[in-house]
Amino acid sequence: MRRKLAAGNWKMNGKLASLEMLDSLSQSFGDAGCDIAICPPAHLILPAVERCASGAVRIGAQDCHTAEKGAFTGDISAVMLREAGADYVIVGHSERRAAYTETDADVMHKAAAAQTANLIPIVCLGESLAEREAGQALPVIRSQLKHSVPAGSTGATLVVAYEPIWAIGTGKIPTMAQIAEVHAALRQDLKTAFGAAGQDITLLYGGSVKAGNAADIFAISDVDGALVGGASLTAEDFSPIVAALSAA
Ligand code: PGA
Repeated sequence: MRRKLAAGNWKMNGKLASLEMLDSLSQSFGDAGCDIAICPPAHLILPAVERCASGAVRIGAQDCHTAEKGAFTGDISAVMLREAGADYVIVGHSERRAAYTETDADVMHKAAAAQTANLIPIVCLGESLAEREAGQALPVIRSQLKHSVPAGSTGATLVVAYEPIWAIGTGKIPTMAQIAEVHAALRQDLKTAFGAAGQDITLLYGGSVKAGNAADIFAISDVDGALVGGASLTAEDFSPIVAALSAA
């Protein structure tokens, strides 16, 4: 069965004190009817895991290296994140694809390393505004999916997030019809690639998800949750999104 997921991506934001929001989430959503994950910066992963030990909230990371260990100054491996208690890792976020020129092949190797370490990779993909305006959104996204997702993935080992680059942090979102079109295409391609398992892979939408638009987005077929940036930083902003997903 396909699982619903509300995932928060804190990016390079948050301090130890910010972890208080995890207590509120745990209290509000003991039994949310959906999975909840917060992906804080690396220095907060261990304290976040400890803080969430008894609750429904899971912790994720925002990136990992492809190797298990070695001379890669500044990097962190999937095995290390797993040891710290993380359950998820975001890979291929457009900010990393752009700032660190990560390719689809890099993203696939990171996702595979995550799966080997028993982390669930949240593989991000999405078109630029220029690609959308040129009518190229679907081919771009489908190509990213094909080349960024490891062979043999299942609903238990992979989450995919569609995040149009132009919707991230801008307050702009695609029309509901555009989101539906992309998610239907991604579902079709996942089924083609993975057979019946493709039906079970959780598909998130990300990009300016807020309390005010979450219910409409979650009503779209094949949208199984959200990857939320800005609105995941406080319980006040994130809780209504989790509540909307749980009610969807
Ligand atoms: P946003 O970011 O919700 O702030 O638009 C989403 C993301 O980058 O994952």
